[in-house]
Amino acid sequence: MSQDAMKKAAGWAALEYVERDSIVGVGTGSTVNHFIDALGTIKDQIQGAVSSSEASTERLKALGIEVFDMNSVSELSVYVDGADEINHQMEMIKGGGAALTREKIVASVAKQFICIADGSKLVDTLGRFPLPVEVIPMARSAVAREIVKMGGDPVYREGCITDNGCQILDVHSWEITEAKALEAQLNNLVGVVTNGLFARRGADVLLLGTPEGVKTVKG
Ligand code: A5P
Repeated sequence: MSQDAMKKAAGWAALEYVERDSIVGVGTGSTVNHFIDALGTIKDQIQGAVSSSEASTERLKALGIEVFDMNSVSELSVYVDGADEINHQMEMIKGGGAALTREKIVASVAKQFICIADGSKLVDTLGRFPLPVEVIPMARSAVAREIVKMGGDPVYREGCITDNGCQILDVHSWEITEAKALEAQLNNLVGVVTNGLFARRGADVLLLGTPEGVKTVKG
């Protein structure tokens, strides 16, 4: 079974968590694209979506799904998104697609975070995937120097401008054992917009696409 087929199976399985007549929080990425396609099949049964990126907004609108401004929505029943890595504590690294800040904002108002992923994303220890950190452009080098002092190896993601007009540092060589503490520490660096650790608000349910079918893991 291909990796994309496992992503697709996980994406479609998330439909079960969508409440009728609700506004759905929608993440970003190739796995979420399958979820959006699935959502299109029940578009008449939901009010619409709050989106975490311009790319997801475009795909939602192309399917005729209304996209609401986050400022007009106080609470979402579910937020569905992928991950670059997820551990057994349901902590994640996200932001491979540079959408981490809006993803974290939409996730923050959701009652349930449903993570959809193929089996390769489940890890024992976070950090093999470089940790994305979104920075205000003028602070990029200053933040990078602080991260080096913290033991990380930041690499500027050249040519990448986020939906918020900011830049990304990808931090290599970190074996992340205290994800919640590191998430807070990075957020405290002046010039950091968000970091890609989703530990303080991790996933509640993981739908993991595997060759044997979609496995459901609850946090
Ligand atoms: C987007 O910035 C990321 O957080 C994605 O959610 C993550 O990279 C997963 O992407 P795929 O579903 O494409 O693997």
